[in-house]
Amino acid sequence: MTEAILQIKGLGRHYGGVRAVDDVTCLVQRGIVTALIGPNGAGKSTLLNVASGVTPASFGKVVFNGEVMTGKRSDQVCKAGIARTFQTPQLFPNLTVRENVLVGATRRGHVSLTRIALALPGARRDLREIDVDTDALLGELGLAPIAEKLVGKLPFGQQRIVEIARGLASRPELFMMDEPASGLSRAEVEGFRDLILKIAGRGISVLLVEHNMQLVMSTADQILVLDKGKLLASGTPGEIRASEAVKSAYLGSYAEH
Ligand SMILES: Nc1ncnc2c1ncn2[C@@H]1O[C@H](COP(=O)(O)OP(=O)(O)OP(=O)(O)O)[C@@H](O)[C@H]1O
Ligand SMILES: [Mg+2]
Repeated sequence: MTEAILQIKGLGRHYGGVRAVDDVTCLVQRGIVTALIGPNGAGKSTLLNVASGVTPASFGKVVFNGEVMTGKRSDQVCKAGIARTFQTPQLFPNLTVRENVLVGATRRGHVSLTRIALALPGARRDLREIDVDTDALLGELGLAPIAEKLVGKLPFGQQRIVEIARGLASRPELFMMDEPASGLSRAEVEGFRDLILKIAGRGISVLLVEHNMQLVMSTADQILVLDKGKLLASGTPGEIRASEAVKSAYLGSYAEH
């Protein structure tokens, strides 16, 4: 399939008089890292919220792999193949790292929680598959030593990685991350850069919302710029850096970062 993995068509999300996302049309291409940047309040998180079924669109459409996502619930969007992380990690603090990642695995298309709960045929196979995959992911992301720790007791940086692991456990085709590097130390951000590139290297399309310009410029193949709910620009990192409109709306104020 060569078409864009995600098509945003005339999308709007208004909150009363606030036009958080206002008639945005853009594409997220398959198999690359696309960054979504813009000033505070530009509508980046709102766009992710609409695309992931967390909040409904006021108008317009989100199409994923040719299938309309607008109008679907977040669990249906996840089953279709979109995973996401949140600006503030949304984990279960009283569950362990392993349990949090298992939750992600149960959101996978072919795994049925009902089948597992009712011990119907296929339940054991589902559970075994989930178990093996979870162990592999915990190992790969360096979470194995803390697998039995409660997530609420972990440092912030590790919580961010657990949220990534949970998203990967659902075997997404598109992974949307909302400011995964915010609140992290410089060394942790370096680790995140490698992780993002590794995820993309597996063929997972990434949509990265991020204010850390070094991280954006060193990972993104394409950049979308939002400002006041509108798409201000889209292009390669070089094109975006050279854009006067982007400089005055956003990059100027972040030049020192
Ligand atoms: N649930 C809501 N109810 C009312 N207004 C909202 C809601 N969510 C977002 N907004 C408003 O929509 C606008 C866009 O917010 P959004 O959080 O999408 O911006 P953002 O680009 O993610 O900003 P930041 O970089 O600070 O995270 C803001 O004016 C915000 O106050
Ligand atoms: Mg945001």
